Amino acid sequence: MNIAIDGPAGAGKSTVAQKVAGQLEYVYIDTGSMYRALAWAVHHNQLAIEDEPSVSELLQNNEIRLVREHGQQTVFWNDKDVTGLIRSTEVSQYASIVASYGSVREQMLVLQRNLAKQGNVVMDGRDIGTHVLPDAEVKIFLTASSRERAERRWKELLTKGIQTDLDELEKEIEERDLRDMSREVAPLRQADDAVLVDTTGITIDEVVDRILQICERTGESTQ
Ligand code: CDP
Ligand code: CDP
Repeated sequence: MNIAIDGPAGAGKSTVAQKVAGQLEYVYIDTGSMYRALAWAVHHNQLAIEDEPSVSELLQNNEIRLVREHGQQTVFWNDKDVTGLIRSTEVSQYASIVASYGSVREQMLVLQRNLAKQGNVVMDGRDIGTHVLPDAEVKIFLTASSRERAERRWKELLTKGIQTDLDELEKEIEERDLRDMSREVAPLRQADDAVLVDTTGITIDEVVDRILQICERTGESTQ
């Protein structure tokens, strides 16, 4: 069984997907980290972000690897560990720009489908249920109000000692969501056969339980 989890920024996808994967002993694949690694490399190599052919070529000539050890994911750009470098606001915005390029998405699609070949994966992103794994047995679309999603990010940053402006953060999230929803290639949208889970005011464990119930029901009905 494959599980696809999509939704806007801060909906809880990666937190929940990791826990679901842990419970089911599935492999967790964070596709957003791949777009983030490319965005980081564009910045690091001082490429113009609007130059789609160069961005696409950069991806073609380099390697992104997701390595899982002790339940933690490490992201490599060739041999460089970029895990700690790809979560900044700047990289987030850059990621959603490179993610709007068809030539980039084409390559990512191949890489992501290869990663899921083994089966029993929980993959999260924006287009997993609609494009990457259209045959996934379980599809979840996670949402929450943009205010709550911004508050979650704000708290997360605070625990890392980073104080930010909540209104600015909400604006940044809404801007990125809009770009992700309005791009031409594989925009962020709920797949027709995905289950919508609104996580506003709901704890992580409650969301995980709900998804595990959906997986159980799906497992029973396919036996
Ligand atoms: O991957 P995505 O951007 O969708 O969200 P995330 O990084 O998993 O979650 C963003 C933050 O919200 C994390 O700090 C989670 O711990 C928190 N969260 C929460 O407080 N309540 C939820 N139901 C889900 C996530
Ligand atoms: O953690 P958060 O939800 O903020 O973002 P992410 O999942 O790490 O994804 C970063 C950016 O990559 C998103 O804003 C999208 O533009 C892009 N992305 C995408 O287009 N398709 C995916 N399957 C995953 C991410």
